[in-house]
Parts: sequence; C-alpha cells; structure tokens
Amino acid sequence: MCGIIACVGRGDDTLDTLVHGLSKLDYRGYDSAGVALTGSGDDTVEVVKRQGQLDALRRVLETARADGAEPRGTVGMAHTRWSTHGAPSDANAHPHTDCTGRVAVVHNGIIENYQALRDELAANGHEFRSETDTEVIPHLIEELFDGPEYDPADPEPAIREAVARLEGSFAVVVSVAGVETLFGARQDNPLVLGTSPRDAGSAGGERSEPRAGATYLASDVPAFRAFTDRVVYLENGEFARIDAEGWTVTGTDGEVVQTSVETVDWDPEDTGKSGYDHFMLKEIHEQPRALRQCLQGRVDEMGGRVTLDVDVDPERVQFVACGTSYHAALYGAELFRQAGVPAQAFLASEYATSPPPVDDALVIGVTQSGETADTLSALREARSRGVRTLACTNTVGSTAARECDEVLYIRSGPEIGVAATKTFAAQQTALNALALSVAQERRRAGDVRDSLSALRELPGDVQAVLDESNAEALAEEFVGAPSYFFIGRGVHFPVALEGALKLKEISYGHAEGFASGELKHGPLALVTDETPVFAVVTGDGPLATKTIGNVKEVESRDAPVVAVTDGRSKVERYADHVLEIPEAPPRTAAVLANVQLQLVAYHVADRLGRPIDKPRNLAKSVTVE
Ligand code: F6R
Repeated sequence: MCGIIACVGRGDDTLDTLVHGLSKLDYRGYDSAGVALTGSGDDTVEVVKRQGQLDALRRVLETARADGAEPRGTVGMAHTRWSTHGAPSDANAHPHTDCTGRVAVVHNGIIENYQALRDELAANGHEFRSETDTEVIPHLIEELFDGPEYDPADPEPAIREAVARLEGSFAVVVSVAGVETLFGARQDNPLVLGTSPRDAGSAGGERSEPRAGATYLASDVPAFRAFTDRVVYLENGEFARIDAEGWTVTGTDGEVVQTSVETVDWDPEDTGKSGYDHFMLKEIHEQPRALRQCLQGRVDEMGGRVTLDVDVDPERVQFVACGTSYHAALYGAELFRQAGVPAQAFLASEYATSPPPVDDALVIGVTQSGETADTLSALREARSRGVRTLACTNTVGSTAARECDEVLYIRSGPEIGVAATKTFAAQQTALNALALSVAQERRRAGDVRDSLSALRELPGDVQAVLDESNAEALAEEFVGAPSYFFIGRGVHFPVALEGALKLKEISYGHAEGFASGELKHGPLALVTDETPVFAVVTGDGPLATKTIGNVKEVESRDAPVVAVTDGRSKVERYADHVLEIPEAPPRTAAVLANVQLQLVAYHVADRLGRPIDKPRNLAKSVTVE
C-alpha cells in the first residue's frame, strides 16, 4: 500500500522522473511523499519529504528549484505512503535515513520484528526520529557499515545482511551516499525492475550491456511505463542491484538468478484520465473494452465452447477474496453452484485465520491487484494444506499469479481509481467463463450455449447502459439521504452488496446491501420515507416475484424505491424510479445492473465534491493483514 519508484541513469532528469513515477503510484497511498537523491562524491543522501498528497511535496521541490536548492543526484528513489506504523507526518514519511544520513531507505510492507531491532539499535546509541517500522532498516545497515568487515566500496554485503535480519513483508530500496548503485529486495510485497531497450541482452540475470537509458525499481509498472516497457518481476527473496551499467538479480544465496524480461503491452495513455474528470468515471466507461479484452479468444459462440488456458474441473470450490473482489467471489460461487459444483465464498481474512476443511476443494483467490495480504494469506493457508489454488487477477506477475497453481487473468487493463469498477465487471465476466468451462466439462451443453451468447452480448449491453443511463439525475434526487439500501437475490445479492460498498466508499454516505429476503428480519426497522431502496430485479421468474414481494414491504413503509430492471417483471409498478438495463439472463444482468449502481455512486459522490479517486483512509492495494 505504499508506492516506490527508484532510478539510476537518468542524469539531470532524475528528480523529475521520480516525481512523475510518484504521480503514477499515488493510488497505492497518499498520506505523505518523499524523494532521496545522491551522486558521486556525496557524503549524505539528500532527502525531501512531506506529509500530505504529492502536491505538497511538489510545492516544496518547486520552491527549492526556484532557489537553486533542489536535491540533485544521478541516483534517486521516492515513496508515497499509506500509514501502517505511525500517523501521517513529515517525520514518518519515507525515505528514512540512519543517524549519519549516509543510508536512505524506502519500504512497502511491515517489519514484524522492528521493535526488537529498534531496542537493540537504540541500546547501541542509534537515535530514531520516526515512529515507523521502516526506520530500523537504515540504522541496521549503518550498524553493519561500522563493522570490521565493511568495505565502503561495496555496501551490498551489509545491505544483504540487514535484509536477512528482517521479518515480515517488504519491498525495500536502499541508497547509499555517493554510491551510484541502488539495491532492492522483496519479500511478499511487489517490486518490479524496468530496464531500457538496449538492455535486452541482460535477460537471464547476466549483467547487461552498458546502458542505453536507465534502470528502475518500482512497486508497479505504471511508475516507469512512460520510459520503458521492459520489465523483470522480482520474486520473493530476490535481491536486485541496479546501476549505470545495467542490473543484476541474485537469490538469497548470492547466486545470479535466471530472470526473464517481459514486455508490457499497454500504453502509458492508459494510465491518464483521457478527458474524464476522474479515473473512476473513465474506468466505468472503459468497461465495454475491458470485457471484450477479457473474453477475447475465450468464447467461441459458433463452436459453442469456452476455451480458457486453465485446467480445472473441481469437485468443489472455495473462493477467498476481500471487499469488491469478495462480491465477485460470491457471484462466482453462485455460478459454480449453478454448474453443479458445490462452491462457497469466504472473506479472505476470516479464511486465513479460521480456515474451513478443504477436502478436495480448488481454492480460488479473486484479487485484482494480486497483492492483497489477506487474500495471499488465505491462498497460502490453502496451499499449506496441499490443495490446488487458482488466482483470478488483473495483474500479470503479481504475487497471487506467481504463487498459485493456475492463473485466470481478467485482462481489464490498469485500474487507477481506488474504487474497483472495471475490474469487478471483468472478474464477474472471467468467473462466468470459468464456471461455463466447468459446466462444459460436465456436459451441461444447454447452460453453456445460452450463456455464451449472453456473454458475447455483454460488452455491447454495457455500452447501452452507459449511453442511456439516467443515474446522474437519480443521484441528484437522492444526494444527501441519511442511508441508502440495496437489495437483490441470487446473483443479484452480490450486486446489492457491491452497490452499497461503492456508494459508501466514495460518497461517505451510509449504505447497506442485503439479500432481498433478509430485509424483513431486522434491517426493515431502518427503512423510512427518507431512505432510498435500490432493488435489483431482472427477468420474470420466481426470484423476481419474490423480490417484488420485498419491494412491496419497503414501498408500504413509504421508502422511495429505485428498481434496477430489464422491465420484464413489471417491478416498476411498485417503484418510484427505474434504472433500466437491456434484457439479459440473470448472470449477465448482474453485470449490467452493477454498472447502473456504479454510476449512481459516482454521481452522488461527485455532487458532494468527494475526492472520488482517492477516498479518505483507503488505498488501492492493501498489503497488510
Ligand atoms: C473497493 C475495493 C476493495 C478491493 C479489496 C481487494 O472498491 O477496491 O474493496 O476490492 O481491497 O482488493 P484486490 O481485488 O486487489 O484483492
């Protein structure tokens, strides 16, 4: 949940490169930001850091530049923070340095043994200036620099030794004053290396040819995507060294590791707002394209088949996920049950700490980032008990993708807005295809044929919802309501939960989602003539009839009812407003209904002037449990 960008080899451009990288990473946290630069001959690493969003740091740097006093150096690293240990403050912002200012460190993750290390270092005279766990790292390195075996010409052994003493999860980058090399290590937190095109010969971990450009280390590719598309995904336990000559990756034993350089094929423009006011709105509108990408080559309507590059026909399925991804997991579980496979969705944090019996289950982790600590823990718990795991993720090279036996990519492209939108729709779509591939194995041909054509129609139907939605006007009507309720049944129950989550996280309004049948068992007491109830009712079958019964229960308590519907059930007779979606089978109608609710949440939050892309207290990637 913190973001790191570091580079060597960009000469006078180093500071601007770092600030650009931070601007692409602030979805990982934005409590504070900082930079550290050094160059040949320096005795200390120069650090500038500020509490607050990146603009606060930018202002300080601009003033320094105007005064001719900006930090300079050819080696630089920067960090954007989402607090774990210690409140947001200048002192707690990264980079952190040792007492002498010789060593600077940026870190993402949690050092679990930091208190023991801090006590030990304090006893040796180290003075700490922050409340963070991270600060022990530069002090520990400094301590090792003072040892008899330390060779100032080569700080790597001391840094490796310090890293080996850390317990917990981390991606760290270390800079040493006057040394034109950066050192990076990862354990359970992402760290990627970006290499310039002429470094192509360096694949395999060999030292590359003299540089053509620069080398980067970052938490995520968007940080350096404007400069290179060539990426090495570091694995747990790996140690990277980057300098003007190129890069080397070694394992814990110091041996060079065989790595491969991958080319990322998305455009830097994909990480811009492209004229939309917010990333969230852009990403909502990108859904037709995201779903086409997700389905490409996977659904052959003519041949009546789904073709996925995963090999699963499980006896039973357990899903693990958090937040929005958990809602996708609930939806996926319902589809698997419909395909005749017993399936349950678990909150990953609960699964990890109180695991159910696994039997012969396939455990599917649904995680767009592939880095959510709770989900990774649940998957590791499953693996430790010998069951097969599958990651359903958006992020190639993510920890979940690498650690699981199988990977199903949702292919939605990068999502920058903290609130998940297009990734949720792509998760629904990918899980839809996965459940269909299992139904296909089980020769439930009828299920597959009907659903395949619905899936093929889906991107166009989403476009129709986006083109014709009246969500903005509706949001205007209900902005400022004391509470909002969402109800749905079957595949629409997760949509109700997701509609409520989206609204609360970006508008800060109170919202709850319920299974339609549950309302009368307690929550109905909260329903008044001021609390809008959004009811997802599609088709004209028994589920729709039952939900209409629940709609009548709230209607008779004078609550304003908004029906999200394809009109077949005639629910609009009991509703004050309608959000219309095209006719579709329930499994794809659930995707369409959700798009309407995303738009409602967006417009309510926009009307209230909320910081939609960066809601308070939240981060895009939550890498602590
Ligand atoms: C809400 C949201 C979060 C994430 C959750 C899991 O809009 O985005 O609830 O869904 O933090 O994240 P991933 O999918 O990366 O595991």
